[in-house]
Amino acid sequence: MKIINVVGARPNLMKIAPLMSAYKDYPAVKPLLVHTGQHYDERMSDLFFRQLAIPQPDLNLEVGSGSHALQTAGIMKAFEPVVVEHQPDAVLVVGDVNSTIACGLVSVKLGVKLVHVEAGLRSFDRTMPEEINRVLTDAISNLLFVTEASGRKNLLSEGVDESKIFMVGNVMIDTLTQNKAKADESKILEELKLEDIAYAALTMHRPSNVDDPSVLGRILDALEVIQRDMPIIFPVHPRTRKHLDGPALSDRVKTMGNLRILDPIGYLDFLKLMSSARLVLTDSGGIQEETTILKVPCITLRENTERPVTVEMGSNHIVGTDPQEILAAYRRVISGSRGKCKVPQLWDGKAAQRIVKIMAEEI
Ligand code: UD1
Repeated sequence: MKIINVVGARPNLMKIAPLMSAYKDYPAVKPLLVHTGQHYDERMSDLFFRQLAIPQPDLNLEVGSGSHALQTAGIMKAFEPVVVEHQPDAVLVVGDVNSTIACGLVSVKLGVKLVHVEAGLRSFDRTMPEEINRVLTDAISNLLFVTEASGRKNLLSEGVDESKIFMVGNVMIDTLTQNKAKADESKILEELKLEDIAYAALTMHRPSNVDDPSVLGRILDALEVIQRDMPIIFPVHPRTRKHLDGPALSDRVKTMGNLRILDPIGYLDFLKLMSSARLVLTDSGGIQEETTILKVPCITLRENTERPVTVEMGSNHIVGTDPQEILAAYRRVISGSRGKCKVPQLWDGKAAQRIVKIMAEEI
């Protein structure tokens, strides 16, 4: 059985890593790995391959950046001949990035079965590019692997046949579980002189938060107050970097001495940074999940989440981008204690094994 596995952007890499490893228990399955090249910087891609021991891609389509239409179309044009040449039994896509829908669409149009890992998540906010990618990918998938109960419910209400849906846990948490001990050895806290002090870790890259200087400026209003209390460690996504360096905000950022802006960092250093943080501020989807397992309070700088289980478990606080709301949540979080949240069902480090077993039976 031949399965083409697709990665494109940074958050795909921690999802594919445990799957590539789980295939090793199934000698009859031949996995191929295709990188679309949506992300291409060393620190957005290669570093993660090395740290997570992901095999080198069999093929890199080198599509790179562009508008949504150019990027999605570019991936489709480059991926179609790959599917035609290799004639796989299935194509597996993960997450919700442009590479996910682009490769999904190519596969089903060629009559190849599509497997979606991390299916069913819904923010119900169609202004998010990822929400469109999720809804469309799920609509054309043959096997849908969900991470939380809301995923199953959403798919059923969209008319997906129950027999295609499997609740398997969370491959991103497999990677976290497998790498936690290694991450504990990271020297990032010593390098940043953060040992034994309370600090916040921050990530931000959603277009709705970073592309408009007035929105980003309002988030900075809150960060300005927080950084007076404790350092904020901010590894910056390339998209965000462009806007922080722009004329509207660069002078302001320079005045915030405790907002410590870094280049993107690797998986192990970031896991260590999150694990020891007093709190995390983020607009990422995956980090909402990782902080749940790490039992670190997470303030989510979005109006909604497609991962409601992280709120139900008690770690995640959805606050949006209003500075007063962010600060109110911050004060609530630092006056409470860490480590009081629960663990979602099946987030036990074995999701990839379940997925590969089901694929071997179903395809
Ligand atoms: C993409 C995903 C998003 C995911 C995020 C994680 C889509 C629609 N969005 O957003 O869901 O959360 O990845 O990072 O697929 N750039 C570089 N180097 C790189 C990659 C990108 O400098 O290696 C810069 C380019 O200027 C590019 C911009 O970042 O134009 C945005 O990259 P893109 O892949 O379009 O989207 P992300 O914002 O990274």
